[in-house]
Amino acid sequence: MKVLFGICGSISAYKAPWIARELIRLGAEVRVIMTPDATRFVTPLVMQNISKHAVVTEAFAPEHQENGSWHVHWARWADLALVAPCSATTLAKMASGQADNALTLALLSLPRSTPLRLAPAMDPDMWLHPSVQRNLQQLEQDGALILPPQEGELASGLVGPGRLAEPLHIAEWALRPSLKGKTVLITAGPTREPIDGVRFISNHSSGKMGYAIAAEASSRGARVLLISGPVSIAAPSGVEILRVETAREMFAACQQHFSQADILIKSAAVADFTPARVATGKLKKDQLGQDWSIQLEKTNDILQWLGQNKRAEQYLVGFALEIQDAEQNARAKLQRKNCDLVVLNQANQPDSGFGGDNNTITLIGPELKQAWPPLSKQACARRLWDFIEGSLGLS
Ligand code: CTP
Repeated sequence: MKVLFGICGSISAYKAPWIARELIRLGAEVRVIMTPDATRFVTPLVMQNISKHAVVTEAFAPEHQENGSWHVHWARWADLALVAPCSATTLAKMASGQADNALTLALLSLPRSTPLRLAPAMDPDMWLHPSVQRNLQQLEQDGALILPPQEGELASGLVGPGRLAEPLHIAEWALRPSLKGKTVLITAGPTREPIDGVRFISNHSSGKMGYAIAAEASSRGARVLLISGPVSIAAPSGVEILRVETAREMFAACQQHFSQADILIKSAAVADFTPARVATGKLKKDQLGQDWSIQLEKTNDILQWLGQNKRAEQYLVGFALEIQDAEQNARAKLQRKNCDLVVLNQANQPDSGFGGDNNTITLIGPELKQAWPPLSKQACARRLWDFIEGSLGLS
């Protein structure tokens, strides 16, 4: 595998020599292009020694000219292009098709069929800036695969998303996106069951866990269908989102799309009951008396339906939110709903369940109980996919 390896200006460029080494160790041939700012953090000499190829840092350097179009030849030489670390500036340039330095020039010359993998690194406020998110979305639409930065302590002293992933992880991800070719269906968030035109029954699910699972699947190369109840967080870039409100709508969307999916993850907090009748307009309290009650009827259990209708090769993951007899109840759900795996959360514990940024998960399988420590929902998503990939022999 011939890899065109681009490096941008970021303190995390200190990891670039290791990334090149890991790529080579995994069997790749590597040619390096550096932006002018990248050379302030790591020298071209180091990269040249590791890659055993001349390093391009300047588009017009006479020694690289091959009839004036070295960038075209280099771009066509590559089976794959990887930029790590990828800066906010280079993301912006690529998203708008600029070619004002050696790296952006070569990347713009990349044939459309050549995979492009980007591993951004920057401070959290930069990463979360709407312009950066917009550029990422654009690049994903254009076909790039993005490895989101990890959360943690950054060189600036800040803590948050922005850390460049570890070199071996980047090299493996670049050479073997583990979920490439797989379609994943994920449900997330709560459902809303209307009482009348202005009121509804719902729950505290924020959608954060399901959205993190969707983002991670997308960064591993999967096609992701995210069926989402109403939440206030932004859709991860690169996923196909289908927005629903009620349990009935979520059921219909799952029925419509489930046959396309290789892996199904039901993290949504679906209402078990819905008002039997929905009043039009607004119910007036004066007309309802002192002890008004709503008649509820059971919704369809979507997970159970998926378990009954799935093909043998489809991998089905359910969630279980429990308060008492957690493991026993999760095992009962695993069996009753014919799941391959149940992700158990305990609702009454800190760092667990709805709303927060962390989760404490226990995996329950037919022969399995694996309890994890409290982790950020992003870290839970990574571990969950590592586990599923291991179970399916994908990693
Ligand atoms: N689920 C579903 N459809 C429903 C209710 C739940 O698909 N109508 C799914 C959830 O998405 C989750 C799993 O079933 O993956 C377990 O949800 P949970 O609320 O823990 O359990 P319930 O089956 O609703 O059972 P109970 O309320 O008795 O705990």
